[in-house]
Amino acid sequence: MKHLKKLLFGFILLSFSSVAIAGEGMWLPLLLKALNENEMKTMGMKMSVEDVYSVNKSSLKDAIVHFGGFCTSEIISPDGLLLTNHHCGYGQIQSHSSVENNLLKNGFWAKTKSDELENPGLTATFIDRIDDVSKQVLAGINNKMTDKERQSAIDLNLEVVKKTYNLKDYQELVIRPFYNGNQYFAFTTTIYRDVRLVGTPPESIGKFGSDTDNWVWPRHTGDFSLFRIYAGPDNLPADYSEANVPYKPKHFLPISLDGVEEDDFTLIFGFPGRTNQYLPGVAVEQTMNVLNPAKIKIRDTALKIIDKYMRADESVRIQYASKFARVANYWKKWIGENQGLKSTDALGRKRKFEAEFTQNNKTKTGRTLLSDFTSYYKNIEEVALTRDYYSEIAIRNIELLNMQRYIRRLVSTYEENGETGYDQYKGRLAGFFDNFYKNYRADIDQEVFTALVKLYVEDVKPEYVPEGFNALSGVDSYKNLSKLIYQNTAFTNKESVEALMALPAAEAVAKIKMDPAYKLGVQWENLYNEKVARPYSSKKMRIDSLQRIYMQSIIETFPKQKFYPDANSTMRVTYGQVKGYQPRDAVSYTPVTYLDGVIEKYVPDDYEFDVNDKLLELYNNKDYGQYADTNGKVPVCFIGSNHTTGGNSGSPAIDAHGNLIGLNFDRVWEGTMSDINYDPSICRNIMVDARYILFIVDKYAGATHLIDEMKLVHPKRKKK
Ligand code: ARG
Ligand code: ASP
Repeated sequence: MKHLKKLLFGFILLSFSSVAIAGEGMWLPLLLKALNENEMKTMGMKMSVEDVYSVNKSSLKDAIVHFGGFCTSEIISPDGLLLTNHHCGYGQIQSHSSVENNLLKNGFWAKTKSDELENPGLTATFIDRIDDVSKQVLAGINNKMTDKERQSAIDLNLEVVKKTYNLKDYQELVIRPFYNGNQYFAFTTTIYRDVRLVGTPPESIGKFGSDTDNWVWPRHTGDFSLFRIYAGPDNLPADYSEANVPYKPKHFLPISLDGVEEDDFTLIFGFPGRTNQYLPGVAVEQTMNVLNPAKIKIRDTALKIIDKYMRADESVRIQYASKFARVANYWKKWIGENQGLKSTDALGRKRKFEAEFTQNNKTKTGRTLLSDFTSYYKNIEEVALTRDYYSEIAIRNIELLNMQRYIRRLVSTYEENGETGYDQYKGRLAGFFDNFYKNYRADIDQEVFTALVKLYVEDVKPEYVPEGFNALSGVDSYKNLSKLIYQNTAFTNKESVEALMALPAAEAVAKIKMDPAYKLGVQWENLYNEKVARPYSSKKMRIDSLQRIYMQSIIETFPKQKFYPDANSTMRVTYGQVKGYQPRDAVSYTPVTYLDGVIEKYVPDDYEFDVNDKLLELYNNKDYGQYADTNGKVPVCFIGSNHTTGGNSGSPAIDAHGNLIGLNFDRVWEGTMSDINYDPSICRNIMVDARYILFIVDKYAGATHLIDEMKLVHPKRKKK
């Protein structure tokens, strides 16, 4: 509580404060009143913070939905219509696509509700309320406790706190640490399980510019898709059923037709995933110079191989579209992050901050903290790097090893729980096999295997290399090894895996254990667990607890500043203004792009920059309906000074009055380091303009029945 009070008073921003470009911070909605309301109003907000978040009446928060646990989405109609990014719905859109019926390529618009497509496993989570439970969770905790003692005391307290909640049977409680474990907040959630696909533009709109334009401004992507939440007859969560009805929301966002101008107030409401704003300089240095370069190199290698196959074969393009985009996204982000950390002199800034910290903090802990960090990070570096190699190679990018892990779990289930357990788990695997093999090409994977295993053997210390790889040298030996494995394993195609599954359990298990992919998987993982994962986690635990003490000391050392908690996939509000920026000397970006820019970038038949005929026709005829700006052009995207990160995709951009003006989906290239070193002068989030979304739904797709469901408003006209 003491720390919270410190947070509540004092209104100086952490770095480089200036009202004109304020925007740093991802704030807890329930603390806006105490921490942010004044600033928000100064920046142009016309609502009260109770309109943004309230547990007593309906508020904006009731329209904000965690989409599948990885993106944000929002309700935009009284019938549960849900707006999110195209790239957030990508997996679902792809799963409904085939070469004959290619939703990625052609888009999809359900004509009636009965045409909307079911998405097994997809969830939509509402936040019913948020409570500060720090006092209860940290009761009895003191600094003399070891990390283990502290954790078990907290675990016990968490159980007690959970019991104080009278949850309905459809609710769940999530309690998360904030400020590295110095505070705890509880989120009461309701999770809907029937979420259907309603509409999506073709990729040439929804993913226009693809990976070339990803993380880049100026941008011209219509990155949106539409879903709908269905509920049981009581409006409560239900499993998919034809009898389900459209969910009736407590609140839905009206959509503004008036657009944005520079300096307009913007509020982003969503579920930012993870940031690391308070790391010590040594940690940033390690990320920048050791870990990021390794991950970039590995992904670069895998992506080049997959790209080659995708360009050559349309069916591979569909099969690998989602996987490729996922791997390419962070590959590019780390490249941008590293450049940005250098160009903003993140290390210099950290050092400066640390010098100030040391000067102002005269406690015993404060004196040793930073040197402890230095030795701890040095000490973890080797296993941290090997861990990244292993997870990028054996977990993320070699698909055979991924499949092998599932099959291995089947074996261990058999050994632990006998045939009953085996049969149960096998039943669950059936659907997974279908999905996996639908999008799998063993020849591509084999080439990835060859290249990545070579990287692993060459780059990590020999003690982390599994025996099976020991004798490898020269490209051919890697090729021969992968050939041997891929030709002899049963796991590269569905038929042979199904044949295995058809055998009696004992026989299948015996066969699986002889499989070369299985053997390699066991050997590599055991070695990894013993020599990397275990030491890593004990070293990381020490770092985490030091970080918790550092965070607390920062707050205590600078009592006049307000510090926002790092993102942790919980609901946050960030606010800023529509703003251009200057990325380099003599270069200046304005904040809005137009359809004219799509046409400028148009490259016929290109796989990233093609524009389809219908959109060209609308452009040529200037058939823009009510969606053009005052200059007669259709806006496509805009940028603002809102502090966002991964997970904020699909977040609504909301105007001063509470109307939807845009849909967040990305950040600008020069600002991709914002997760580690936010710089208000160049960090900008990118949003699709709401009018572009409406224009595509209405004029491009002719889905006027969807427009009719929405509430379109003119807040700026009303003002006059
Ligand atoms: N960079 C954005 C985010 O981190 C958008 C990614 C989707 N687009 C893509 N071309 N992969 O998720
Ligand atoms: N594109 C990101 C997302 O998917 C947003 C970001 O990283 O800015 O959440």
